[in-house]
Amino acid sequence: MELRHLRYFVAVADERNYTRAAERLHIAQPPLSRQIQQLEEELGVVLIEKGVRPLRLTDAGTFFYAHAQELLAKAAELKTMTQRVGKIERSLSIGFVASTLYGLLPQIVRRFRARFADVDVSLQELTTMQQIQALKDGAIDVGFGRVKSEDPNIRRIVLREERLVVALPMEHPLANGRDQVKLVELQTECLIVYPKAPRPSFADQVLAVLSERAIAPYKVVEVRELQIAIGMVAAAQGVAIVPDSVQGMKRSDVVYLPIADRHAISPVMFSVRKLDRSEELQNMLAIIYEIYDEAGIAYVREAL
Ligand code: BEZ
Repeated sequence: MELRHLRYFVAVADERNYTRAAERLHIAQPPLSRQIQQLEEELGVVLIEKGVRPLRLTDAGTFFYAHAQELLAKAAELKTMTQRVGKIERSLSIGFVASTLYGLLPQIVRRFRARFADVDVSLQELTTMQQIQALKDGAIDVGFGRVKSEDPNIRRIVLREERLVVALPMEHPLANGRDQVKLVELQTECLIVYPKAPRPSFADQVLAVLSERAIAPYKVVEVRELQIAIGMVAAAQGVAIVPDSVQGMKRSDVVYLPIADRHAISPVMFSVRKLDRSEELQNMLAIIYEIYDEAGIAYVREAL
């Protein structure tokens, strides 16, 4: 059994479809089916139920899937960490969700660059779920996200819990003369949430905050990204619930108000490959805590 067999099986199990898996792997479908067949023969067990649509894993297949994912992630980790050890020039590739760009991320990156000028820093916008995959593929070294998804190969540190605010069109009745809004006051509004995909996303976090109070907005519109959500608010198409730091995206036609409900918060998370304790990551974490201390931001310190 080779890593290739694991990759092929995981693609089929992820996609629950041979055609999509073959496309994702950039191979034709017949060789993919043959490899899965070979794998089943070698193991002497059936991994995928025969003649069932949509495709379903057997109990052995489900067991194999979980462990194959772990082994592939470990292989990717081994590759990137070995490359890192062997590399002369040092690098740090960062994945981030858009809202962190309007908060502390630019300051954190500037300070890191100034202090560690020999490290090549790069940035990519990715949703939290995309960050998990990018970490496992070795495409990024650290992700700053918001969704608390569990993955056995990823170490996650909650940096802080950020308050949520509501973005309202400038002429909205709630935007005038108020210093805060209660979630219940938003139930008659059209709520604009983002990102539409991949899920779970920040959109689900916002909907969960509302459903915890049994609040169902009268209409929910899903949009691709934060900037579109705020643009739609400016066009008076609805209201959006966003992290406090989004107020850094100033617009004269949008008003941001704090949400009074205490549970209306969103975490800022630091995600890395489980075994990665590189100097670059330690330095990045130290700078984040340093900036929190300077800004008087509450947090619980964790070591990598
Ligand atoms: C923050 O706003 O707390 C933050 C943003 C990006 C990276 C780290 C922390």
